[in-house]
Amino acid sequence: MKINIGKDGQVKAVFVFKEDEHLEESKELYSFIRNEELFKGNCGEIYSRLSPRGDNLLIVGLGEKDKLSLDSLRKASYKLGKKLMKLKIKNLGLAIPNFKDLSYDKVVQAIAEGLLQSEYSFEKYLTDKKTVPTVENVYFDVMESEKENSKKAIDEIQIIMDGIFLARDLVNEPAMYMTPEALAKNAKEELIELGVDVEIFGRKEIEELGMEAFLAVSEGSEKEPQFIKMTWNGNPKDEKKLALVGKGLTYDSGGYSIKSSNGMVTMKSDMAGSAAVIGAMKSIAMSQLKKNVVGIVAACENMLSGGAYKPGDIIGSMSGKTIEVLNTDAEGRLTLADALWYAAEVEKADEIVDLATLTGACVVALGNINTGAITNNEELMKNVKNAAELAGEPVWQLPSNDEYRELIKGDFADLKNSGRGGAGTITAGLFLEEFVDNTPWVHLDIAGTSYQSSEKGYLPKGATGVPVKTLYNLVKAE
Ligand code: BES
Ligand code: MN
Ligand code: ZN
Repeated sequence: MKINIGKDGQVKAVFVFKEDEHLEESKELYSFIRNEELFKGNCGEIYSRLSPRGDNLLIVGLGEKDKLSLDSLRKASYKLGKKLMKLKIKNLGLAIPNFKDLSYDKVVQAIAEGLLQSEYSFEKYLTDKKTVPTVENVYFDVMESEKENSKKAIDEIQIIMDGIFLARDLVNEPAMYMTPEALAKNAKEELIELGVDVEIFGRKEIEELGMEAFLAVSEGSEKEPQFIKMTWNGNPKDEKKLALVGKGLTYDSGGYSIKSSNGMVTMKSDMAGSAAVIGAMKSIAMSQLKKNVVGIVAACENMLSGGAYKPGDIIGSMSGKTIEVLNTDAEGRLTLADALWYAAEVEKADEIVDLATLTGACVVALGNINTGAITNNEELMKNVKNAAELAGEPVWQLPSNDEYRELIKGDFADLKNSGRGGAGTITAGLFLEEFVDNTPWVHLDIAGTSYQSSEKGYLPKGATGVPVKTLYNLVKAE
């Protein structure tokens, strides 16, 4: 689907609110369908009048006026996109309204996003494809004075969607193919041509760096661990650098603290944090954002074998801190411990945001709706929250009282990798905090939001690409 600015299209579509009693475009039809309750104007509801005479019209509901948001525009437009595909409409003209509480370019962008979202599917392993993008052009009929801005907004959301779709594809790919080496190869193939510097370290270099915690997790797998570093120097004149650190478990069986059969089924998605980093780096580079960003991923598998690490082991880490392994399934924080230390001490990042499918407890607490957050810096947290809100990817901050820190102190080592006494998402986050060395840092637990068991709004079943949009917005605004 190509989104253009203009007044073309064989079929027209208009948005209406639930409260709207009249419609200029088609007065009689509209009062008829409202009176007969054939159309109520709910968000995403669509009435289509297609006739051989050619005066074709789609009426798209936006729900109640005072509940209008960028996200309801995304949802309604997503439904419109799906409808176009179903009706095999190739060229659509869409009137873009001016809502007084929302900025025009954001409205344009939200509508474009919803339409583009409707074309995503992961069907490479399906013999009969269910989603075949058939829409050729959508023409946005925009306010004359907003043409330039609208064009820019559309170009930008196209670029952001490229990053989101990339992240989804990486996550949806089965772990048998999306190995640590494949992930590294994908990062190179996607990013180098955009001007991102991509460096890959294998086992030998990881050993030399002293990443003992990361290595311990990788020990049970035949697949070589890969440390992936992606550097975008969009503003060489500026010293400031933001690190995006993504959990990159290409598979998490739990190790000797083995998961249940059911718990293991979706664990190809345990690299969703790293996929979000790679996706965001792609959009950042394509947009040529004038910011300095380094993406960091410690990629490996958590498996069982004679050589695997065991509950009760005491391991080291690049920071020098020692860790008692109480549970081999609390592996993400171990890989991240070394990745975060590297970001803080080697990269000397000024700010760090990490993204991780870290705890099942986060899914229990917040479901698929909110990403959980922990921070050591309220200002950075505020920036992340703003970026997330604009993205429609809600984030909920969790508390970090000192009492929680007691729960991860080790008995025979400095720390233990799993706390007793509940608050699993908080203790996991505070474990990570031990490795950022006071660098301003925000941890995002995306266990619930990056992958879902059924379609929701404009997000598909499986990988959602959350929080690529948030990361992009954050980098842009920083
Ligand atoms: N990758 C999992 C967390 C997860 C669970 C993500 C469900 C998505 C859906 C993580 O490595 C894990 O297993 N965490 C343990 C920690 C516990 C052993 C302290 C968990 O949540 O059970
Ligand atoms: Mn685990
Ligand atoms: Zn995991």
